[in-house]
Amino acid sequence: MNTPSGKFNRTDFGHEVYDRWYLEHARYNFEVGEFIEKHIPFYEKALQLSKNDNILEAGCGIGSYSRAFARRGYDVIGMDLSPNFLSEAKTITQRENLEIEFVLGDYNEMSFKERFSVIFFEGSFFYKSKQGLVSLLTRIYKALMPNGRLYFEHPNQSKIINRFPMANLSEIEKDVFVLQTGEYDEDDNGSRNTWLKIDLKTQKHYKCDFFLKYLSPDKIKKCLEEAGFRDFHFYKKRRIEDFEPENDNGFSLVAKK
Ligand SMILES: C[S@@+](CC[C@H](N)C(=O)[O-])C[C@H]1O[C@@H](n2cnc3c(N)ncnc32)[C@H](O)[C@@H]1O
Repeated sequence: MNTPSGKFNRTDFGHEVYDRWYLEHARYNFEVGEFIEKHIPFYEKALQLSKNDNILEAGCGIGSYSRAFARRGYDVIGMDLSPNFLSEAKTITQRENLEIEFVLGDYNEMSFKERFSVIFFEGSFFYKSKQGLVSLLTRIYKALMPNGRLYFEHPNQSKIINRFPMANLSEIEKDVFVLQTGEYDEDDNGSRNTWLKIDLKTQKHYKCDFFLKYLSPDKIKKCLEEAGFRDFHFYKKRRIEDFEPENDNGFSLVAKK
């Protein structure tokens, strides 16, 4: 099979099942404040942030990164395709007396024109084909103001392959189980994943199948260029040091318009 098809055709974790489950049982999977705070100096340096920046957090989930930026005085908009996550994001943000606009939307369809100085993805940069990646990067390029910056982190393709095939069953609370399986498709450079979540107490169970593509750093470079980016830097993941393709499991990318 050369193209992801049928049930593995999505890249968004099957949000309408995933989000309710996560809020109920696995919200610890969102990055905690301490972890985020630790990395803010990296983002500030790598993205050369200044107080005039306005940031789009794409795939903001419950808005943890958006709030970390807003607390420091940056103007932030959070976007996600899950209404349930956004509703939770708004509640927590109001409780903290912060002002952040949260918008419902698929970042693959964003059509802003020179609207943001920074577009930021953390744990939320997914694509299912090379064409899909170029299309997303082209939309991002258009949405950025002159000198705008894009940030995302990404696994190192040559290393991630070693994680597959994988199967992992865990009990995350009493009688609440998650089974994750995944296999890597060499032809299509991506993983087919199935997550089965079972709550024995309520008898609720959810299954989501999704496909994630991982292009190599060189191919990503070409896609960035195709979208118009000329100035980009591959860092070690959330560290202000150069990415080492031979050794590192992933990288943080900053691209400048
Ligand atoms: C693993 S969560 C990370 C959330 C947040 N960045 C954090 O680290 O706390 C991935 C998020 O990306 C969102 N997402 C995935 N694909 C998306 C898309 N195409 N458009 C908008 N949001 C998307 C999901 O709904 C989910 O909230």
